[in-house]
Amino acid sequence: MEIDPQIAVIDFGSQYTQLIVRRLRELGWFSKLYQPSELRETGSPKAVILSGGPRSVSEADAPDIDFEYLRGLGVPVLGVCYGMQLLNKKWGGVVSPGKTREYGPAQLRPVGDGNPDPLFAGVSASSRIWMSHSDTCTQLPEGAKVIGTNSEGVAVALRWADGSYGIQFHPEVTHSHEGRQILQNFVDMIDDEPGFRMESFKDMLVEKIRVEVGEREVVCGVSGGVDSTVLAILLHEAGVKLRCIFVDNGLMRMDEADEVRAQFRTLGAELEVVDASERFLAKLEGVDEPEEKRRRIGDLFVDVFFEAAANVELLAQGTLYPDVIESATSGSIASTIKTHHNRVKRILDLQREGKVIEPLAELFKDEVRALGETLGIPREILFRHPFPGPGLAVRVPGEITAEKLRIVREGDAIFMRHLKTSGWYDRVWQAYCGLLPIKTVGVKGDERSYEWAVTLRAVISEDAMTADWVELPYELLRAISNEILNSVSGINRVFYDISTKPPASIELE
Ligand code: XMP
Repeated sequence: MEIDPQIAVIDFGSQYTQLIVRRLRELGWFSKLYQPSELRETGSPKAVILSGGPRSVSEADAPDIDFEYLRGLGVPVLGVCYGMQLLNKKWGGVVSPGKTREYGPAQLRPVGDGNPDPLFAGVSASSRIWMSHSDTCTQLPEGAKVIGTNSEGVAVALRWADGSYGIQFHPEVTHSHEGRQILQNFVDMIDDEPGFRMESFKDMLVEKIRVEVGEREVVCGVSGGVDSTVLAILLHEAGVKLRCIFVDNGLMRMDEADEVRAQFRTLGAELEVVDASERFLAKLEGVDEPEEKRRRIGDLFVDVFFEAAANVELLAQGTLYPDVIESATSGSIASTIKTHHNRVKRILDLQREGKVIEPLAELFKDEVRALGETLGIPREILFRHPFPGPGLAVRVPGEITAEKLRIVREGDAIFMRHLKTSGWYDRVWQAYCGLLPIKTVGVKGDERSYEWAVTLRAVISEDAMTADWVELPYELLRAISNEILNSVSGINRVFYDISTKPPASIELE
């Protein structure tokens, strides 16, 4: 049972195509992406959008569309960039290849002196748009109307005889300032009500998983984070043969392994916990170089995981859409993953054998959270701060010891409790307590001490590429510092990190 989309987005290969789907879903419309050859498989969409793409419609083997079928659907159609050029050609107009690619901002001037075409209702007389094209529609077919130009008077928006639209720019990117309004105007023309409900999306995913998995056993690595938890519970809901494996690498926060176990019990899914903490700590002994630490942790993780998983019939990966489009991922994660050759190789091998499924690959983070809600996953899991794969290792610069890990665990637990009770946890993107591997002098009772320091970090960020520190109230910082200094042994100083990223990173290593 496939659920038909309300809006079918036909993918001609633009890097922005998925964003169209995202924007439509944000506007409440259930939309899905299809290849041009899949037009007949879209069911009865209430509208169709043809995306942009890198090719030229004049190339001999340029991606094509079944135009008769498209027209026969009798629904609103919008062609974006390549989609516009293709439609213009299909209508009998001429598209001329450009010598260079126009890439960047331009101005849209809706035609009609303040009384524009409904597609541009409410859009400013001069609105910033984002272009990325080389071909242009140089001759319009009969019945076509120019409804928008750029500041040089060149047509950038058309309406053809049957009322379908073409726009030369990308309304789906935020660089097109009123792109959202334009898409809203387009969906307002649809003879239906918006109907993107996460419930129905979940049903669709569950059905897809059942078909894809069949009788095979799926192995799912669980970290306790949002994505892997949602993935595991989704697979559980689908009722497929499932093994969820949690590797305790000894670099987790306070009571984390027990908490994840308890969460899974509450959610009714079985979880195998592999306690490999001793192995990880042994592997990290005497190692203080950050990349070497990461590499060892990554490699050992793969070994431990695949030892536990044994013969994998199918591996479920919590890949999200931003992981798919490189640009949206955190530089550091992407680059560290690259250093984990072992891991990448194992997964690529499985991928080649058709043994990897990525059920969340169409979803954005906030959609994963919404999906998690429909699966009954508690809010505290869905809105947890990000936690790095190498765990506390990147929060303890230099050599890792059990003592240092105990200090950051205890400090972190106190910090998080205060953030939660004061309401700051949800206002912060990520926060943690790390260890500064320097010893300074202090006094305890009558004695002088010579001990480590901890650092508290709380940042806001959108995509982890940049981050700013959060102005936590002094009283809150004072209460946290007091409690840490009074109850965590082995330290005599607490610092608050007021470094932006860049030049600092979010983690200490
Ligand atoms: P940095 O420290 O590079 O971190 O500013 C940016 C974001 O990425 C997380 N991070 C990682 N996540 N594996 C992960 O899964 C890693 O090796 C890793 N290193 C950093 C970090 O917590 C922050 O959210």
